[in-house]
Amino acid sequence: MKYLLGSFVLAAMVVAGSYTAFAAAEADPCKARVPADQVAAAKAEKNPYVGNAAAIAEGKEIFEGKGTCFTCHGMGGHGDGDAGKALDPTPRNFSNAKFYDCKTDGEMLWIIRNGSPGTAMIPAVSTGILTDDEAKKVQAYEKTFKGK
Ligand code: HEC
Repeated sequence: MKYLLGSFVLAAMVVAGSYTAFAAAEADPCKARVPADQVAAAKAEKNPYVGNAAAIAEGKEIFEGKGTCFTCHGMGGHGDGDAGKALDPTPRNFSNAKFYDCKTDGEMLWIIRNGSPGTAMIPAVSTGILTDDEAKKVQAYEKTFKGK
């Protein structure tokens, strides 16, 4: 009996171990990503397009078009796009409300401009994929996924 219980526990540990080894997860959204010397400036930056319906509509077109954001983040912003499935960490799930409690618009803009160091998140503005104005519109659109 003791032996049986022992092998059951061992089997459960093996299963749990392989699960954590093979299933990539979303990295903690609250962990700082902007470098320490730029974070104060990023937090202070406001995005004038947040809540602006016309800019949000343009942001949606960018997200689903030239920005290629949907390929990783998914059309619904859940971080489940085809190109994102194999990534580790996985793309941000923009519907996760917790994300908006710990990240400001300015910090998100910094990531869209420069990428998230050490991850597959593309530096969209510094590589010329988007203009800075387009980055602001797409960030305003991203916020509309909150809680969806
Ligand atoms: C090649 C896949 C890929 C594409 C394309 C992509 N992203 Fe990401 N994105 C990621 C990954 C992976 C993360 C998670 C990075 C992390 O955990 O630091 C991420 C994270 C983010 C974050 C959150 C950063 C934070 O502070 O946690 C924002 C904002 C973002 N992406 C916006 C965009 C926008 C806007 C586009 C389109 C212009 C885009 N992404 C295109 C893979 C991608």
